[in-house]
This record gives sequence, C-alpha cells and structure tokens, in this order.
Amino acid sequence: MGHQTSADTDTSNKDKSDKISTPAHTNTQSATKKTLFIKTYGCQMNVYDSERMADVLAPVGYRCVDSPEGADLVVLNTCHIREKAAEKVYSELGRIRKLKEKSGGAMKVAVAGCVAQAEGEEIMRRAPVVDLVLGPQSYHKLPEMIAKVSREFGERLETDFDTQETFDLMPETRKVDGPTAFLTIQEGCDKFCTFCVVPYTRGAEFSRPVEQIVAEARTLVAQGVREITLLGQNVNAYHGAAPKLEADESWGHNNWRLGELIKHLAKIGGLDRLRYTTSHPRDMDDELISVHANEPALMPYLHLPLQAGSDRILRAMNRGHTYAEFKDLVARIRAAKPELALSSDFIVGFPGESELDFKRTLEAVAEIGFASSFSFTYSARPGTPGAALPGQVPEDVKSERLARLQKLLTSQQKAFNKSLIGKTLSVLVEGTGRGENELFGRAPYLQGTHFIGDMDLIGQIVSVKITDAGQNSLRGVLSNG
Ligand code: SAH
Ligand code: SF4
Ligand code: F3S
Repeated sequence: MGHQTSADTDTSNKDKSDKISTPAHTNTQSATKKTLFIKTYGCQMNVYDSERMADVLAPVGYRCVDSPEGADLVVLNTCHIREKAAEKVYSELGRIRKLKEKSGGAMKVAVAGCVAQAEGEEIMRRAPVVDLVLGPQSYHKLPEMIAKVSREFGERLETDFDTQETFDLMPETRKVDGPTAFLTIQEGCDKFCTFCVVPYTRGAEFSRPVEQIVAEARTLVAQGVREITLLGQNVNAYHGAAPKLEADESWGHNNWRLGELIKHLAKIGGLDRLRYTTSHPRDMDDELISVHANEPALMPYLHLPLQAGSDRILRAMNRGHTYAEFKDLVARIRAAKPELALSSDFIVGFPGESELDFKRTLEAVAEIGFASSFSFTYSARPGTPGAALPGQVPEDVKSERLARLQKLLTSQQKAFNKSLIGKTLSVLVEGTGRGENELFGRAPYLQGTHFIGDMDLIGQIVSVKITDAGQNSLRGVLSNG
C-alpha cells in the first residue's frame, strides 16, 4: 500500500498521485455473501479509515473487491482539502450511478470522509444515487446504518463527532497484509490555520489512550508488520492517557506526549521502524527531538510543513510561528540527528501573497533544503477564514508561482537522492518489483528502492548499497554488511 496518497495529482511535487487504495484484505476468507468496494481519496488517515470500515463490515458478511462493478456496497471515502479533491466525488458518483442502474438499484452507495462531514446535506441533494452519508467519526455505525437503509427506513446522514466511540467500538482485530501499516493515534485539530478545512471536518483534537494504541500495534506486529506510521492531523500534539501501571516510576503522568509514546512502542519486539505524520512545527517539543536522537527505531525522516516563508503570510495563515522560529527548530533537530532529512508542505498564492512574499518562500526552501515536498496552489475553501480575505491571488499567478517553487523543490529532491549513491541503506522489503527477480522496498527516507534479491526477503529489513537515484526512487544492490 502506498505511503503517500493525496487529493490532487496536479500540484504535488512528487509521485503522491491520487493512489487509490483498496483495503489490504481483499482475499479474506470467511463465509461472506456480499461484496464491498471502497475507494479512498486524500490523506493517510483516510487510508487507515477505509481499512477500519472494511474491518467493521467483515463480521456482517462483506468481502472487499477491486472493482465497483457488481459490488453490493460501494463506499467513497472522500477528501475536502482542496476544491478539486471535493469535486472528484461528484464525478465519481456519476459513474457509480450507471453501475447502480445496471444492478437494478440493488447496489448501496455510501459517501464517507471529509466531504461527507462538510457537505453531507448537499451530497444527498446533488446525488440521489447516494444511500447514506457518514462523517469520519461515524464508521463504527456503518453496519447498523446499512441494515437500516436496506430495510428502506432510518437515518441516512450521520455526521456527529463521537471520536472516542469510533475507536472504542472498532474491532480489536485489524487484518493487514504486508510489513507496513498505518495506526491513527490522534485525530482532529485545534489549530485553525485560516486556509484549512480539517478542524471542521475532523473536529477537535482527540488522542487515543496509550494502552489502546499498544494493543493495536501488537495486533499488527503479530501479523508480520515491521514498520508502523503513527497518524494524526496534528500527530505531535498527541497527549494520550498513560497506561495504568505503577511499577515503572516514569509512568506517573496522566498523559503522554508523542516522544514517550514512541519510546514505549519501540520496545515491542519485532516492531523495527516507526514514523509519524503530520507534525506541526509548534508541537515539536524537546523530548520528541531527543527521541529522534536516541531511538534507532524512529526513522530519520520528518515531515514538517512550513507552508510559506514570509512572516506576514505565516501570520495571516495563523500558523503560530515565524520563519526564524522554524529555522531555529530545524537547526535544533539537525543538531540532535544530523542524518535526518526533512520533507514539507507549501501553499502558494494565499490571499495577499505578493511577489516579494513568494520570494521569501523560495529563499526559505533554498536555505533549509528539503528531501521531498508537497506544494499546492491555494484553494479557497468554503467556511474557512481565508476564503473571505481580501487580495485573493489570480489563478494564473498562483500556477506560475507553483511552477517556480516546484522547479526548486524537484531539484532539491533529485540532489538529495543522488547524495545517497554509494551509501548503504536499510530497506524494508515490501514485495516484488517489475523486473526479473527484482524486489521493491522502502529506504529510511521513504523512497521506493529496487534491487535484485530472493523472494524470501519480502517482509525483512536488508542492507542495500545505492547505485542509482532518480527523482522518486533508488536502485541498488544487496549488501552483506
Ligand atoms: N496538519 C497538517 C496539514 C494537513 S493538510 C499541517 O498542519 O501541516 C495537508 C496539506 O495540504 C497542508 O499542509 C497544506 O499545505 C495543504 N492545504 C491545506 N489546505 C489547503 C488549501 N485550502 N489550499 C491549498 N492547500 C492546502
Ligand atoms: Fe489544517 Fe493547520 Fe490543523 Fe494542519 S494544523 S490540520 S493545516 S488547521
Ligand atoms: Fe482530506 Fe480530510 Fe485528510 S480533508 S487530507 S481526507 S483529513
């Protein structure tokens, strides 16, 4: 399963392209009678949520399939982050309508995710093909809602925020395929950046208790997972209830921050690699930075969105820090962990952004240096403060700035990958590559890495000496040491 999914293809700086993923256990064997097709848009949390929807539907008889054709239930798990992402839902619903007609109306269609949360009523009005609409905190109610619509009565719209319940009622057993998995530890956001819909679609910040996370991590590791990416819209704002154990003195706090959680998870035998995303610069505390320095399981790669280089724009965006503060933070992180590489997110053409402001972004990128980045033109989202600001930037100016920024980011990404040639990196082998006897895995910095090796190595961590590097991927040879 791809590590990076995104809402739009046009604006990302590397291959983060709209990978549509079907939950892993397509071939689950059980006495199933009904078929389920889930299409996932947006961020990694949606990928995680799609898997959880498949998990809650498995016990009531749904088996995942790879195509919507003939499926008993189609779920679109949607993203609202930019206009294009939201519009995709309606065009997909047009295609689904034809399939539903073919099925004589038997197919049930559900819209889930952030578009469902933000404009549930509108979906029902614009797309009568939709049988039910449910927001991200309602997935545990899916079986019940489907039973109701099947009997032609009951609520068709469910967009309450029951974060705690969503996690409590989810089945303990997650089924996964492959050596990597996502695990949501925190959901929602209280930061209210003025461009962003997430605080409205995902609700207030909520952290899962440590014990629940550990139990889920153990379930994953028991199925062969070696790398877990901890997810949260503001993952480093994590502050979950600590385990109720008195034996260890350090366990006296009521809440644990992300650094403590990572140290604890790293003790799980067989769990060799940990990552987390997405972090906010304001929540990078000293403890977390020291965990980067001292915990080998934590991968030396950090996604730290900067968004813009101009202080005026950062302030208008309500990011809560200046560029100098970001630079200082990066210096502290790099001092603690010199081999750590950074990735980031950028928005160009935020309302009021002048050519000079934009140049500050280019200067910031040149000064800091990123191994990889995602960059977007600003998209005014309904209901966010940014949409009402004066000085909206014309589309052609935004596109032109984006092209200039991406040119710089792409050159940095290529240069970073080239700098790895000759180095030996640890690679977690995920599967076979396209070529004969070729294997595919991920390096610590997430690039797809190709090399010749035996199928037995799938699921293992091997050393690969890098011999060649492209924009998104690496090539190398197995190394013995
Ligand atoms: N929680 C993360 C971001 C989640 S959204 C953080 O705090 O950084 C992922 C990225 O989408 C953001 O970092 C931002 O670069 C981009 N984005 C969000 N809203 C956007 C909008 N209205 N227009 C363009 N890009 C946007
Ligand atoms: Fe959106 Fe800002 Fe929250 Fe990130 S921190 S999810 S960009 S409001
Ligand atoms: Fe999109 Fe919602 Fe994720 S808006 S980016 S799916 S949190």
